[in-house]
Amino acid sequence: MTETKTESARWSDRARRVIPGGINSGHRQGPGLDSLVVAAAAGSTFTDISGRNYTDYHAAFGPLLLGHNDADVNRAFQRAMGSLDLAGVAVTPAEVELAERLVELVPSFERVILTVTGSEATSHSVRLARAATGRRYILKFQGCYHGWNDYLAMNLMTPRERLGQKDPLSAGVLDEVLEATLVVPFNDLPVLERVLDEKAGQVAAVILEPIQHNVGAVLPADGFLAGVRDLCTKHGAILIFDEIITGFRHSLGGFQSLAGVVPDLTVMGKAMANGYPISVVGGRAGLMDQFSTVRGGGAFVAGTFNGHPALAAAALETIRKIETEPVHEHIFRLGERARKGLREVFAHLEVPAVVSGFGSVFVTYFLEATEIRRYEDLIANDAELFEGYRQESMQHGIFELPMNLKRSHISYAHTDADIDRLVEATAASVMSVLARRGVQASR
Ligand SMILES: Cc1ncc(COP(=O)(O)O)c(C=O)c1O
Repeated sequence: MTETKTESARWSDRARRVIPGGINSGHRQGPGLDSLVVAAAAGSTFTDISGRNYTDYHAAFGPLLLGHNDADVNRAFQRAMGSLDLAGVAVTPAEVELAERLVELVPSFERVILTVTGSEATSHSVRLARAATGRRYILKFQGCYHGWNDYLAMNLMTPRERLGQKDPLSAGVLDEVLEATLVVPFNDLPVLERVLDEKAGQVAAVILEPIQHNVGAVLPADGFLAGVRDLCTKHGAILIFDEIITGFRHSLGGFQSLAGVVPDLTVMGKAMANGYPISVVGGRAGLMDQFSTVRGGGAFVAGTFNGHPALAAAALETIRKIETEPVHEHIFRLGERARKGLREVFAHLEVPAVVSGFGSVFVTYFLEATEIRRYEDLIANDAELFEGYRQESMQHGIFELPMNLKRSHISYAHTDADIDRLVEATAASVMSVLARRGVQASR
């Protein structure tokens, strides 16, 4: 045991010597994770370097819809690589086939450009909106995340004292860039309307996650998405749905196909190829044809790995599996089982909690409320309990990211028994955190 501990510490030390902070993405740290080194993954689990197994509900922030290392997707990728790795010129059949399938599946897609990461896709969508409208402002919602690019990376988990102000996620962003992004609260059509009126004729795009999954699961209120659609149409602003998380995970047609609201542009990524890096920006032909892939198109778009044929093959296989197997039926049913089980546990323990989610996504906020409508409502979340129970759950072999407000994901590889163990372990973990605080939960 001591030896294996030493091994993970050794890898973490090596990482810290050559990688700033020892991790390659700013979202990968959290209390209790300092010496976690992940060595393998399969199905619903991952294994750390010391051989300890965890049932994984983090799912790398969402891509692993079918489960880790899906054999069919891997085979499709390898088969494709065996015949064609990358051409970097013209087009390949797999790209065309994937683009055709996406246009069939997603209501807002008439044309698509295949990219690699979510941040690229959102960057391109915003640039296209500015190019097409000739306007300056981008409007986003407090609590939404759209990637690392300068003009969107702000106002995610804003502390109470900075609410209502610009809250960039990064240093090094120009003031004029921050100034050109407007931030409004989610689920508040009157405020959105007021800001669009104030900046009449100047807002290029309104971008949103149709469900605010970057702060757990804040659902759109009835009529909110349709109301945003109407206001964008009225003001000539491009409506961009960021479906990087919701696309594929909630439906092959994205959340828009469930909500019945058609944006002008949509981006998807994460679950699109079950863990292989591919993303897409798509939308109305008249808009998309303003990308520089069309001769004379004004909005420059490029990428060495765009439309990678093996990634496209992985995405096509992911679509095939979702279409031919009861993937959504299974993960939605387990999602409901998890939410119901968790609600019962917290009611029984008399722990104030709101269990939220949609489909395969779930999250428990520790606060007293009957309804969560926007990020501002989540400031009251007991972050210490949220992160604390998740650290404790690791002792039970359950992994949910110990980072405030982060959602958890269920995959096709999870079972009913997994969910029952999750609920039990969560109850035990919450009780031990409360016991450390000297609070007796009733059981
Ligand atoms: C809604 C949303 N948009 C965009 C992004 C950025 O995607 P990527 O990390 O692939 O650049 C993310 C990443 O978490 C996201 O959740």
